[in-house]
Amino acid sequence: MRQPLVVGNWKMNGSAATNQHLLADLLAGCSSLTRCRMGVCPPFVYLAAIQAQLQGSPIVWGAQNASQHAPGAYTGEISASMLQDFGCTYVIVGHSERRTLYLENDGIVAEKFAAVQAAGLTPILCVGESLEQREAGVTEQVVGQQLDAILNTQGVEVFDNCVIAYEPVWAIGTGKTATPEQAQAVHAFIRRQLAEKNQPLSEKIQILYGGSVKGSNANELFSMPDIDGGLIGGASLKAEEFLTICRASE
Ligand code: G3P
Repeated sequence: MRQPLVVGNWKMNGSAATNQHLLADLLAGCSSLTRCRMGVCPPFVYLAAIQAQLQGSPIVWGAQNASQHAPGAYTGEISASMLQDFGCTYVIVGHSERRTLYLENDGIVAEKFAAVQAAGLTPILCVGESLEQREAGVTEQVVGQQLDAILNTQGVEVFDNCVIAYEPVWAIGTGKTATPEQAQAVHAFIRRQLAEKNQPLSEKIQILYGGSVKGSNANELFSMPDIDGGLIGGASLKAEEFLTICRASE
């Protein structure tokens, strides 16, 4: 039985004051969770304060990105090894906003994936199609290629320490959530792709859904057999709604 996992991707949001209040509310509410693992991924600059506030609690934390490079002359970048210093568990890699806004192609995402694992952290690998690709009927082809960028270069075994997040680009930040059936179909496809190479691993890996998950739709999404939780954007910035989503994953 896979443990439910719900991770908040705060994106470029927050402040020292609002973060402190948000986390205090999550800490107060998380004691009601019995199975769900809750995580938050803040902007880099808040990791030290968040580590101090969450240390010793059941809430884990991580980052929204990491360089594919080892420390060196990469102005403005953050290496995966540096994230280890702040007690990170997860690092989101390949988020569609980074793929589109910062031109991170499948090869770069695969390198980031490897760098995160080399630092002893767990990548949350984001995959998903655009509206045009869905309407063209090539969703599985697109998602399959995104998985193959790692499968074909690093092998299926690396997915033993990984979480996958299926995030249809057309559902991110739009309020247009995939139907449970649409999401389940792609989650099942992802699991099948891995099962072809390693059945036990495919059963074990957590596959999260992301894209306009709200307190009002989380129950029906998480009731699907291959949806193991969520990667939550906007709703993760509101304590009560994020807790509602976590409870729905139980
Ligand atoms: O990484 C999660 C994010 O892309 C989903 O955003 O605001 O649609 O929940 P949102």
